[in-house]
Amino acid sequence: MSAQTQVRRITAPDIRARKSGEPLVCLTAYDAPMARILDPHCDLLLVGDSVGMVVHGLDSTIGVTLDMMIMHGKAVMRGSRRALVAVDMPFGSYEASPQQAFENAARIMSETGCQAIKIESGTYAAESIAFMAERSIPVVGHIGLRPQAALADGGFKAKGRTDAERQRVIDEARATADAGAFAIVIEGVAENLAEEITQAVDVPTIGIGASSACDGQILVTQDMLGVFEWTPKFVKRYDNMAERTDAAVARYAEEVRSRAFPSSAEVYTLKRKDG
Ligand code: KIV
Repeated sequence: MSAQTQVRRITAPDIRARKSGEPLVCLTAYDAPMARILDPHCDLLLVGDSVGMVVHGLDSTIGVTLDMMIMHGKAVMRGSRRALVAVDMPFGSYEASPQQAFENAARIMSETGCQAIKIESGTYAAESIAFMAERSIPVVGHIGLRPQAALADGGFKAKGRTDAERQRVIDEARATADAGAFAIVIEGVAENLAEEITQAVDVPTIGIGASSACDGQILVTQDMLGVFEWTPKFVKRYDNMAERTDAAVARYAEEVRSRAFPSSAEVYTLKRKDG
């Protein structure tokens, strides 16, 4: 029997119940070892399609496939025990019809064992969210700056600069919540718009570049750890992993070049058979 104690996973209703309560702590995760480190601290781990840019070196999230999301989703599920794991639906896997969205979401859930899926939810997506939610798929919406729309939008641009755009984001929020999403990620909007949306919907809002007016925050883990030279302006860095890794690897290289690494005689004490 395993000595590991069983830990109860956070569920979609648990997250839903945190509206206006203790802020939700959320981060992205793409692999098992990092999920293991993040899990005790987080309410929600998102296997974001940002994996395409952060891990696979793509310029945008457009080239991310369903198979990639499933592979990373499985790894994060293996590495975590407590946090709710939500897996992003990649570009092209849900926009065509509610049926397409359901079939691909069901595949993600059954193959990874995750607790929820996330979709970028323009108002057009409301029908698909309702179709999935009615068929027992817990859905997180994603409004405001929608990275999968970056090509059509002409880049990764904050949303809500004009009255019309502001209204569009509010409409997206209402449509997403009314369709049955249990939480909504709001990306790249001004604080007063995030505040208005958070008051307008009865599900928790999770901000990324959307201020503390939201019911929680999500960041790309590698951004907050300082893995990259450039990070979005709204990201607070809690470490400088690029510099620290560079220094550690330089030290390692120096030691190998000067043969200052342990010989196997120091590591293993092997008994000779004839000795
Ligand atoms: O793909 C992702 O990581 C996301 C978060 C930035 C919210 O959608």
